[in-house]
Amino acid sequence: MIVTSNCRLNPHKSGRNAEMLEAGLRRLVVGQDQAIAKIVDLYQMYMTGMSSPNRPLGNLLFLGPTGSGKTRVVEATAETLFGSPDAVVKINCAEYQHSHEVAKLIGAPPGYLGHRETHPILSQEALNRSHSETLKLSLVLFDEIEKASDSLWNLLLGILDKGSLVLGDNRHTDFSRSLIFLTSNLGATEMQGLVSPRWGFTTASQPTGPESRLGDKLSRVGVEAARKKFTPEFINRLDAIVVFNALGETELRQVAEIELRRVQERILASKAVPFVFRLTTAAVDQLLLEGTDARYGARHLRRAIDRLLVRPISNLLATEQVRTGDCVLIDSQPNHPEMVFQREAEALSSAAMARMARLPFAEAAARPAAARAEPRFVQRLRACVDS
Ligand SMILES: Nc1ncnc2c1ncn2[C@@H]1O[C@H](COP(=O)(O)OP(=O)(O)O)[C@@H](O)[C@H]1O
Ligand SMILES: [Mg+2]
Repeated sequence: MIVTSNCRLNPHKSGRNAEMLEAGLRRLVVGQDQAIAKIVDLYQMYMTGMSSPNRPLGNLLFLGPTGSGKTRVVEATAETLFGSPDAVVKINCAEYQHSHEVAKLIGAPPGYLGHRETHPILSQEALNRSHSETLKLSLVLFDEIEKASDSLWNLLLGILDKGSLVLGDNRHTDFSRSLIFLTSNLGATEMQGLVSPRWGFTTASQPTGPESRLGDKLSRVGVEAARKKFTPEFINRLDAIVVFNALGETELRQVAEIELRRVQERILASKAVPFVFRLTTAAVDQLLLEGTDARYGARHLRRAIDRLLVRPISNLLATEQVRTGDCVLIDSQPNHPEMVFQREAEALSSAAMARMARLPFAEAAARPAAARAEPRFVQRLRACVDS
């Protein structure tokens, strides 16, 4: 007998796993909603057994300017799913120009010199290395594919199409439990020419109204550039092409906040001398001036943080100038690249420190931008786009 029912189902609600991945990605990646949505979708399809068989779980091409988070979003996926940004098999395409370099990916055939010593980068073991008890999924990243040589392309096309690769010794690597990410900054220059001269940078979050039309236009330019550069057989094998937006002032500040929080977490996790630090707005502006620009986005921000904060902090620790429970205020000095460090509180409880660690900015970032002079890094971004 059939029991009838007329319960309306909601196909837009996503599951717990997918929600956790999405929340993790949003914590680590600023904006780039479309990329996050695609990754979460493909992950949920895998978790529910709905992925197509005999091919990778998904083939995603990320386009857009340098330093906008294309590589970072893949690392953030690894960090959220496996607890480490390194749980990715990462191939920098520029490093595989010659056939002996491509051989490092698949290994040399038996009988060839060095056959026994080579461990192919794309072996099944390498793919499975990141697997956890509960999650048997691999993340594979081909970075900057516009630099790939012809032999690497052929290998890549096979992986994208059949989800499998024959190694030098005839063993097979199965990519049917892999998410394949491809990145390229193709079309980034054409896209910059399109952005509004008023501000020069679109927001990385999902824009609405005229901004969203601009977003659509940028996407089209990116996809056009991809169609011109890459063969139809490659484009046809992609599940999606996502164009990353250049980061504007607000987004760059958010990236700085994420990176500063990571440094703070490192200090608190080290247990040696747990203390907290906070930055004035001027200090954050100085970091952004040193670590970001229109050409490389946020690519050099970590380096600037290491130079201006991490190294001096390590000196303060080594000379016992900071102690457990201190709060150190970091400020910038006019016309001087180095930061000033000052103890502003001491003997904080670990609970108080944990609370403060979540807020690396000393002043509310909500202060209206119009209320203060335009920071120099913003002037520079603007000048670069206007010229
Ligand atoms: N959207 C973003 N969200 C968070 N961090 C970002 C973002 N974009 C850039 N970054 C920062 O800049 C660095 C370089 O970004 P990356 O992803 O390597 O750029 P690309 O787009 O050139 O691959 C990252 O490690 C991260 O610190
Ligand atoms: Mg990259």
